[in-house]
Amino acid sequence: VSDVRDTCNGIYDVLSGPTSKNGKCCYTVCRGLVAPCGRLFLDAAGTPRLARVAPRNDWRARATAAPEGVRAAWRTDALLEHASVAAFARFSLELLAVGAPAELVAAAHRAALDEIEHARLAFALAAGDDGPVGPTALDLAGLAPRTSLVDVARAVAEECCAGETFAAMIAQRALELATEEPARTALSRIAPDEALHAELGWRAAGWAIALGGAPVRAAVAEGLARGAARVAAAAAPVLADPALGARWGRLPPAELALVQKDALALLAQIALEFELVSGGSTGPVA
Ligand SMILES: [Fe+2]
Ligand SMILES: [Fe+2]
Repeated sequence: VSDVRDTCNGIYDVLSGPTSKNGKCCYTVCRGLVAPCGRLFLDAAGTPRLARVAPRNDWRARATAAPEGVRAAWRTDALLEHASVAAFARFSLELLAVGAPAELVAAAHRAALDEIEHARLAFALAAGDDGPVGPTALDLAGLAPRTSLVDVARAVAEECCAGETFAAMIAQRALELATEEPARTALSRIAPDEALHAELGWRAAGWAIALGGAPVRAAVAEGLARGAARVAAAAAPVLADPALGARWGRLPPAELALVQKDALALLAQIALEFELVSGGSTGPVA
């Protein structure tokens, strides 16, 4: 069942299954979600790798849990934030592998620490009636650091430039709508951090392009196109009480749609500034 869940592609939970239908394994899934994805921890096929939720008390900030109808969404966010720790840890190794300046390596390490705090804040909101929750062990099989400048640049464009830009905009809008203090506390920390992470992504992409020229520029354009497609495909969780969700920092679908539109426009604009669009036909954003 954990293989079927793909929060960043909108499969939020598996309600039942598998059952056999026309020779295929079928699951009843809860579609919706997700966002903010932040920096995804992607395998070579582009599938996000996540831990699962487990009862434990050592991965949470001191904060009141969200009410029942909102917790599941915060659990998903917590797992995504936790995966972002791994994504930035891998990124710091990748930066070393391609000879990046100390400033970028240091910023990648700081970002990983930020993501630990984001995960702790989200896990605190996600706690259940039966106690606190945190992550299981994270499966790292097949997730070795990339070592070529082109691969590192492509990945940073997708995971960081697109993912963190979108996450920052979602967190900011969710903060504007949230009224419950624990959610506001979490989002007040997350929103500006994700904006800094996006900035780090663009700095790293710019450095890589300056070093590697046309092939790296093409890889960044490709990564950004993939990232923009994820932004366009994101969906909000279907909450029984969307107004309650908004008070607890969950964007209602209509709000998410507005942020998506703005995020895609911003990515397209930055792509122009990075000269990633050539001849008007290969832009990163459809
Ligand atoms: Fe984060
Ligand atoms: Fe982030």
